[in-house]
Amino acid sequence: MANATRKPLISGNWKMHHNHFEAIQTVQKLTYLLHKEDFDDVDVSVHPPFTDIRSVQTVIEADELEIALGAQHCHWEEKGAFTGEVSPAFLAKLNVSYVICGHSERRELFGETDEMVNKKALAILKWGMTPIICCGETDAEREAGGTDEKVSGQVRAALAGISPEQVGGLVIAYEPIWAIGTGKTASAEDAQAVCAKVRSVVSEVAGADAAASVRIQYGGSVKPSNAAELMAQPDIDGALVGGASLVAEDFAGIVQFQTQSA
Ligand code: 13P
Repeated sequence: MANATRKPLISGNWKMHHNHFEAIQTVQKLTYLLHKEDFDDVDVSVHPPFTDIRSVQTVIEADELEIALGAQHCHWEEKGAFTGEVSPAFLAKLNVSYVICGHSERRELFGETDEMVNKKALAILKWGMTPIICCGETDAEREAGGTDEKVSGQVRAALAGISPEQVGGLVIAYEPIWAIGTGKTASAEDAQAVCAKVRSVVSEVAGADAAASVRIQYGGSVKPSNAAELMAQPDIDGALVGGASLVAEDFAGIVQFQTQSA
């Protein structure tokens, strides 16, 4: 967050939690907890399950909330015989701004490859939305000293064919798999080192200007108590939050990390 030109983005990935009633309640609670000035300093997005998106959109638009609507995943084709999949065009029609792309759970549990992640990122951009491209290593890869190689490879593959100008507007989320939902957080120094590596890969692939403006989030057991330290790192420009984003008070505490730490 040291770079004042990059506005931090705090995103709540609700995964397969909250039906549409619970989603509406959570967003309404956030409305009470977050204040206009919070949005001067931080961009905020919520990523409910597909079945909630229309309901959440209605609340956001009726109450003119500054929370951006996000999705967790989409297909890369506009339409076709893809049973169970969701088109990026449908998400754009619901005023979705950010789409998570290549989350480790999609990669590990549903077989998403680097090539698919790249196709999705290109499709999300084509439909005027911003991909949040995820990368991160397993515990075994980390233990074997393979973090940089894994993360660099994922980032390079995801960015293939994306113009430098577009890369500059992307969000990349570094989420070490061993820290997701485990309560274990990467130390601020380790998270910073990997996020700096991601930025250097972006610089190699798309140039210095893109690297200076791309936003890099950290994700993995982010909580109100550790958000400020993580966000203070020069190459960490936000957080992708799972569990703590389900509880409005906790998520608001992360969004308000600057005042929480004061
Ligand atoms: P947790 O915050 O629950 O560790 O989840 C992180 C994550 O996967 C967000 O996408």
